[in-house]
Amino acid sequence: MAPQPSELAFVPFVSVEHMMGLVHHIGIETVLRDLATAIEADFKRWELFDKTPRVASHSDVGVIELMPTSDGEMYGFKYVNGHPKNTRDGLQTVTAFGLLADVDTGYPKLLSEMTLLTALRTAATSAMAARHLAPRGAKCMAMIGNGAQSEFQCLAFKAICGITEVRLYDNDPAATAKCARNLAGLGLKVVPCTSGEQAMEGAQIITTCTADKQNATILTDNMIGAGVHINAIGGDCPGKTELHRDILLRADIFVEYPPQTWIEGEIQQLDQTHPITELWQVISGATKGRRDDKQITLFDSVGFAIEDFSALRYILGAIQGTGFYTQLDMLADPDDPRDLFGMLQRSNP
Ligand SMILES: NC(=O)c1ccc[n+]([C@@H]2O[C@H](COP(=O)([O-])OP(=O)(O)OC[C@H]3O[C@@H](n4cnc5c(N)ncnc54)[C@H](O)[C@@H]3O)[C@@H](O)[C@H]2O)c1
Repeated sequence: MAPQPSELAFVPFVSVEHMMGLVHHIGIETVLRDLATAIEADFKRWELFDKTPRVASHSDVGVIELMPTSDGEMYGFKYVNGHPKNTRDGLQTVTAFGLLADVDTGYPKLLSEMTLLTALRTAATSAMAARHLAPRGAKCMAMIGNGAQSEFQCLAFKAICGITEVRLYDNDPAATAKCARNLAGLGLKVVPCTSGEQAMEGAQIITTCTADKQNATILTDNMIGAGVHINAIGGDCPGKTELHRDILLRADIFVEYPPQTWIEGEIQQLDQTHPITELWQVISGATKGRRDDKQITLFDSVGFAIEDFSALRYILGAIQGTGFYTQLDMLADPDDPRDLFGMLQRSNP
């Protein structure tokens, strides 16, 4: 009989089904709040992380990226793609999975689906940033782009920022109808709109979360009144932006990691001498976020590896003592570490 894998060979694996079960078990709004807390805590210790712009492999139709980081104790990475044309073929625009490993041994500690977890962590990051940047007491958000991420964004802004009304717009009315249907009964006033301008009426926060592999103009300068907070999620690749450049010139711009955002964010439209602020400095109290109620704030989000690291660590903690994972026989771990070949030989039936 082939030798059985040692205990060290096993890595907890969180499948899509486990992730869905775990989110329902904890409650989605609690998960979003917990993730925001975990991400904010890691932004506070930003300086000790290993940081690098994500490694992107572009094609004509999309991008595949690896997003690594480490805090010196744990190492994490995410595999993620972005293919805006996928939805036309019945596929997701964004899919992802990720891994956490022990820096001391290099042994993996968790493998997890991250398609759902990316939507959750992106929404939690957006709302966490808005808590520092949006006008105080904001109750109404315009949600432009009503695809896979949109309901997560709306719920995070409800759970974390106290938003009570969302105004939905997508250039595909079927997406808006889907989003409105999914949000019904979740405690938000949901207003489907037929234009971006209509969605903007009365909104103190504007989230753009569209997918198009080009420089799009989802928001033009005349749509943006004084004092609003813009949470721009969808511009996250070279040549893929959502805002007219004039808006950037009027806004105070907050970013995750400048070396990555200059390549991928809205600010790729600007000269690199233009002033920007790193969000972690606002969170750590080193810099002010919102100064007054006339200021336009812009969170130019592209998604950074530390957010995924925080999310994976949260999941590793949350699955303990639950059935929301399986043990995956993932590591070859021979009894004699130098006898890898012998282990293979002995397994031959
Ligand atoms: N910043 C981050 O951390 C982060 C994380 C995840 C996804 N994203 C990005 O967010 C975007 C949305 O992701 P998704 O998974 O929801 O994609 P999706 O394809 O499911 O949804 C995108 C929606 O945008 C709509 N849209 C496209 N062009 C539009 C326009 N001109 N006006 C109005 N609506 C328009 C589409 O009809 C679609 O419903 C993607 O670009 C993705 O790369 C960013």
